[in-house]
Amino acid sequence: MKEIKKIACIGAGYVGGPTMSVIAQKNPHIQVTVVDLNQERIDDWNTTDLSQLPIYEPGLDDVVKEARGRNLFFSTDVEGAIDEADMIFISVNTPTKTYGKGKGQAADLKYIELCARQIAKVAKGDKIVVEKSTLPVRTAAALKSILDDTGNGVNFDILSNPEFLAEGTAVADLHHPDRVLIGGENEEAIQSLVQIYEAWVPRERILTTNLWSSELSKLVANAFLAQRVSSINAISELCEATGANVDEVSRAIGHDSRIGPKFLKASVGFGGSCFQKDILNLVYIARSYNLTAVADYWEQVIILNDHQKLRFAERIIQTMYNTVNGKKIAFLGWAFKKDTNDTRESAAIYVADHLLDEEAQLVVYDPKVTAEQIYRDLDYLKTRSSADNRRLVTVVNDPYEALIDAHAVAVLTEWDEFRKYDWMEIKQMMKKPSFVFDGRKLLDAKLLRQLNFEYYAIGE
Ligand code: UDX
Ligand code: ADP
Repeated sequence: MKEIKKIACIGAGYVGGPTMSVIAQKNPHIQVTVVDLNQERIDDWNTTDLSQLPIYEPGLDDVVKEARGRNLFFSTDVEGAIDEADMIFISVNTPTKTYGKGKGQAADLKYIELCARQIAKVAKGDKIVVEKSTLPVRTAAALKSILDDTGNGVNFDILSNPEFLAEGTAVADLHHPDRVLIGGENEEAIQSLVQIYEAWVPRERILTTNLWSSELSKLVANAFLAQRVSSINAISELCEATGANVDEVSRAIGHDSRIGPKFLKASVGFGGSCFQKDILNLVYIARSYNLTAVADYWEQVIILNDHQKLRFAERIIQTMYNTVNGKKIAFLGWAFKKDTNDTRESAAIYVADHLLDEEAQLVVYDPKVTAEQIYRDLDYLKTRSSADNRRLVTVVNDPYEALIDAHAVAVLTEWDEFRKYDWMEIKQMMKKPSFVFDGRKLLDAKLLRQLNFEYYAIGE
């Protein structure tokens, strides 16, 4: 079996950065170099102030501190790293296509193809190429064909090693994974990667499959998780209509060990870079094989999620006497979940967009998301001019600035700190009646009602 001495990882993003940091931490004898075209991102990974890493993940700073400079390096020298490495991970982004065939559904593989061409050009010895990014099924075949047809006659083995870490818990998920999945055709190449994970993951948790099963399993895992959220969100609407309480329903069904308690928290809608993209991919693949019933079935998970976001915004408008024009609404949270600064596909963006259509005045506070990011998210939708987004939305660094004189509060992300605020003081600061719309069922409903807030939560 080939012993791996040097690893290169192309892409220093949410997946590549934390994953390679942990691989380096647990394999001090392997040199791991993470490369990216984005100079600013690499500079941020190399920052001496560890609170300024480009990605906020609890515990990540300690891992980087331990390994960086020892056997973990961040650089923009993509070709140099490829040249030296025995094993190359591809962790570049695969956004949903915004143009052409499959627009809005299929994954855009241009970054993957660029990587493949670059590897083929530079490689002078045999390499193992590992797909880390989430990819549509059978991408490995395309990768192999580019590598073999444009390469210098060296041998490439392709492995699929999808990432299952969730943001906000990335380091814990990497340290204690439920499973590591490795798909491939060449047993020797598979074992080279198994060995790297065996440094800290029990062997029985390292599953090996064929390439296509591995690629498909990643999409299916995310589709099943997202489906659970859409299922409970569908029930949340029914709870609101019937007087049931969705948390009680979740608890009751989650105690059935066949169902289990996780991913049954009703919310304003799921977000993040994976769920929607991966389901759209699954739908696109099913349609491309003319499996219409299969495609429609999974598409419904997305349709319900869009409905949930819109429904929450509509609930706010209707409750506030059918007009939010000029009213100050404090947004608590913008990230797609707590403990991350990532806002990709966050429900907050879409709820905000709908309220802005009604000329609401939004004041946003999120503990980790910057003002630039919030404006970028809104501008990206192209619903209105960027000047209008700035006219209607203010971003503050102090939550109480958002809450003072607000007509309403909307909780969009389940940050723990929101629960600890002095709600008695907030009641004094806000306009009367003081509305609270809790999109995460996070706050203490009993207390807020005692304090005379008009409190509305998803699913009750
Ligand atoms: C997900 C998968 O969990 C991970 O395995 C995969 O590698 C990438 O996609 P991530 O997107 O980081 O991870 O976050 P996750 O914790 O899965 O949450 C996704 C969204 O669902 C969030 O917006 C979250 O708030 C929402 N959610 C989750 C709920 O609304 N209710 C729940 O019960 C769970
Ligand atoms: P993910 O969540 O999948 O990690 P990110 O967008 O956070 O996605 O990170 C992907 C990274 O890959 C980006 O920092 C981007 O600059 C980098 N990247 C994309 N294409 C290339 C390439 N050909 N060479 C080097 N880096 C690349």
